[in-house]
Amino acid sequence: MTNRVSAIAAILVSALAMTGSPVRADKKITLGFSQIGAESEWRTANTKSIKEAADTAGINLKFSDAQQKQENQIKAIRSFIAQKVDVIAFSPVVETGWEPVLREAKAAKIPVILTDRAVNVKDDTLWVSFMGSDFVEEGRRAANWLVDKTKDNAGPINIVELQGTVGSAPAIDRKKGFEEIIKDKAKFKIIRSQTGDFTRAKGKEVMEAFLKAEGKKINVLFAHNDDMAIGAIQAIEEAGMKPGKDILIVSIDGVKGAFQAMMAGKLNVSVECSPLLGPQLMSAVKDLMAGKALPKRIVTQEGVFPQETAAKEFPNRKY
Ligand code: AHR
Repeated sequence: MTNRVSAIAAILVSALAMTGSPVRADKKITLGFSQIGAESEWRTANTKSIKEAADTAGINLKFSDAQQKQENQIKAIRSFIAQKVDVIAFSPVVETGWEPVLREAKAAKIPVILTDRAVNVKDDTLWVSFMGSDFVEEGRRAANWLVDKTKDNAGPINIVELQGTVGSAPAIDRKKGFEEIIKDKAKFKIIRSQTGDFTRAKGKEVMEAFLKAEGKKINVLFAHNDDMAIGAIQAIEEAGMKPGKDILIVSIDGVKGAFQAMMAGKLNVSVECSPLLGPQLMSAVKDLMAGKALPKRIVTQEGVFPQETAAKEFPNRKY
């Protein structure tokens, strides 16, 4: 065999090993995607991005909404395996508990791509690639903005924290990144921290409880996403206080609703987390089916939008 022929053979062999079926250029690729749910404006934009990108790429998408339950995601993945899809992608609601179903996918030779959130499994050959944000960095960015904003304030600065879904990668990592920056600065104190499950309704409910317990002692709200911040803004207004002024509000995502709240002076900053992962996912799926190796980690590039930049940036926002 010449070198060229053996190289082509090697690519085909690796594509075969990953997909379990011969690679045919004319075959329409089938992708099974298990989405977490529709808990936030971010998630709705993410779903739209994935559906539109599949359509544009000519990929046959089997889409399943797990309504924020891990057991529904596991069922969906099992059903994709039974249907012998070419590739499985999913955004895991929580980090742990995925080994058995991922082993089943591997045994069926169906490659798995993680989007948006990571899994915590010992064997990282159970998934091919993980594309999405660096959530620890997002937490750091949120805290760095706060440190800079309050640099002339001697403190104490009392923070309440609305965490995302318990056990989810963004809740764990954003908390970690935020705490990493403030831990050696004595003037900052997290006085309450509870989950609001990434939803507006729970964000409002938990903020009401924080206000009841701590009242005017609260100086800052750190919300792990914009939806919870928007729910909390309502609670703060109903308690007769001014969000964005009496209480500084720092959140994450950069959805249009957050920009509107910033333009109204009620939210101080939103750290960007892009949900527009569809096109990247479809090109990864095509590369995989063509026998190409994917990078293990693809990190989304993102910015920080303080209130002062909101009006100028708003017309450019895509989600
Ligand atoms: O995993 C990304 C997070 O999930 C977003 O910050 C949040 O809005 C969503 O529900």
